[in-house]
Amino acid sequence: MMARSSSSLHTACAPGKIILFGEHAVNRGQLALAAAVGLRTTCVVRESREGLWVFRSGQRQVAYSSESLQTLVERLDTALATRDFATITGATAADFFTSSAYVVGRAKAREAAPLEIAFTSDLPIGFGLGSGGAAHVALAVAVAHSGASAAVLPGAAEISAWALAGDRIAHGGVASGLDTQTSLVGGVIEYRDGEVGRPLPVPAGLRVVIGNTGIAKGTTGSVNGRVRRWLEEDSARMAIFVEMGGIAQAGREALLAANWAQLGVRMNEAHALLQQIGASHPQLDALCEAARRAGARGAKLTGAGGGGVMIALVEESTQPAVARAIREAGGTPLLTDIGVGGAALVT
Ligand code: PMV
Repeated sequence: MMARSSSSLHTACAPGKIILFGEHAVNRGQLALAAAVGLRTTCVVRESREGLWVFRSGQRQVAYSSESLQTLVERLDTALATRDFATITGATAADFFTSSAYVVGRAKAREAAPLEIAFTSDLPIGFGLGSGGAAHVALAVAVAHSGASAAVLPGAAEISAWALAGDRIAHGGVASGLDTQTSLVGGVIEYRDGEVGRPLPVPAGLRVVIGNTGIAKGTTGSVNGRVRRWLEEDSARMAIFVEMGGIAQAGREALLAANWAQLGVRMNEAHALLQQIGASHPQLDALCEAARRAGARGAKLTGAGGGGVMIALVEESTQPAVARAIREAGGTPLLTDIGVGGAALVT
């Protein structure tokens, strides 16, 4: 516990992430591996001058009264408790800030003074790089430090619970803590649902090219809903998710041994299974194939899929050719550090 700062302005930032193994399988109890990336979302929180809870991001701005924030929290809590996913996806479709408002509503007691909350981000929104998770984490950290009445700050468990609550809403009612734990902890983590992210030693030479299809995947909630309905049609399909967990285990061993050839093979296997569950997209497949042909050790979609981004495992020598191949196949290559530090309070 730290002493609460007296300043009324707090800024926190949090990184996005790539999932190395385990998207969708992590929602079904399987092991996942993810890495924080050098693209961040920043959240500035200050006391509201308007007596309203104001949310801003780029051109978007929405204001809530304390009563409407409370009503929203109650409505979403009921929807979560009854697995009424339609109400949750309806609310997020109607207002971009629904999940952030839910985080703040959960975090702040009824009597707390309204805040103005502004986001800026290097992360493309809705492309599978964890922009939502990073926003919820940065918000939870900044909000934890705001307010003048309490003597102590909330603990790490509370902050991660608030951030996860935001992802649960943004992901359509069900979310693992993979995105938020990666953003909080940073580095490379292994994660199982309901646990905290465990840092893995980042081997020198772990290098990827991210390829953006430019195709908005829609919300993670819409892709998750499709995968969930597909599994409900035939419960035997659960075997594929279990297989994904086995690949994540093997990928973990390859990563720790810095065995890039094996790691690449496992990534290709993971992509093939993600194709089977309907999470891929022809353009994701095309970028993965182009990257492999240009010398990548392996390639897979990352995040929920259905559009968005893929990752290709490269070495320094193959990186330029792989980036070029992704561009020639119609994607946008993104070179950024991976395994960077986690969320931090800036001011
Ligand atoms: O929000 P995205 O696109 O990074 O997807 C997160 C990974 C999923 O397993 C699909 C969802 C989750 O809650 O872990």
